[in-house]
Amino acid sequence: MVDESMRAALRALPKAELHLHIEGTLEPELALELAERNGVMLPWTSLDELKRQYAFENLQSFLDLYYQLMAVLKTADDFRDLMLAYLKRAAADGVRHAEIFFDPQVHLGNGLDLDTVMDGLLEGLRLGRERYGIGGGLILCIVRDLPVESARHVLELAAPRAADLIGIGLDSAEVGYPPSLFADVFVRARELGLHCVAPAGEEGPAAYVTEALDLLHAERIDHGVHAADDPAVTRRLAEEHIPLTCCPLSNRRLQVVHDLRDLPLRKLIEAGVTVTVNSDDPAYFGGYIGANYEALAEIGFTYDELKALAADSIRASFLPEADKRALLG
Ligand code: ADE
Repeated sequence: MVDESMRAALRALPKAELHLHIEGTLEPELALELAERNGVMLPWTSLDELKRQYAFENLQSFLDLYYQLMAVLKTADDFRDLMLAYLKRAAADGVRHAEIFFDPQVHLGNGLDLDTVMDGLLEGLRLGRERYGIGGGLILCIVRDLPVESARHVLELAAPRAADLIGIGLDSAEVGYPPSLFADVFVRARELGLHCVAPAGEEGPAAYVTEALDLLHAERIDHGVHAADDPAVTRRLAEEHIPLTCCPLSNRRLQVVHDLRDLPLRKLIEAGVTVTVNSDDPAYFGGYIGANYEALAEIGFTYDELKALAADSIRASFLPEADKRALLG
């Protein structure tokens, strides 16, 4: 068991969160509140009934609920409040900088326009910096199981606001939707000056990690735990200094592993891969970033090891070098 002093020490470590879906911070209580406020019909009327939907068998069973609940987000104020609620929690967990995914295609599909979503999220970021001293930015996430044409369309819609974005990423169902599908979308994103990140090796094979590096020029790999299945892929991540944004509680909830001890984090670290700890969709997976650090402490990671991972999260961010040095100092 992690005692109170260890818990406090882990939370006090300055860290960056690099793999966080803002829609994945929609707590069930807030989802029901917004559904009522915005007149959105959900199939569940009580909190208990809704909470019973959170026993996920795999990634897809989570995604079904995640997309369904997103329909309650309707106004710029909803997005601002969602962002602020996350930043408050993250700041309490020692997060000093967050690079945050959002899913514009889903919100467009729900009848919103991109400015409503981005204005609300950016206002939340501005207020979060002011109130909680936490910095951050947005990564536009492409939903990989929607048609590629929709990805191209949303990127063009976002192009005039590229300066408001840090980067581009991918999410949703992995197997059957290889990174190669999005090669031209990522070329265009690079033309717009965006950083490129891509999930690979969450449920998919190590070969998807190679594709994400070769074809998307991913600067970080999200999840990436299956990279450990292939020594050549592991070696390449180490040699090319490509960090992984790992999400332990997510992997357990989505049954990527049954036990956190089965995650190959130590194996990857010992092979020289930079591993970072993140929460992915904390409202769905049983804990924010602090709980993810604690979960690793519970399976034997020492304070010094976790301190090194926190420092690596800052190094793996897209912050300017001077800002990294300030946070590390
Ligand atoms: N979207 C939000 N969380 C995700 C995850 N863990 N994998 C794929 N898509 C996601």
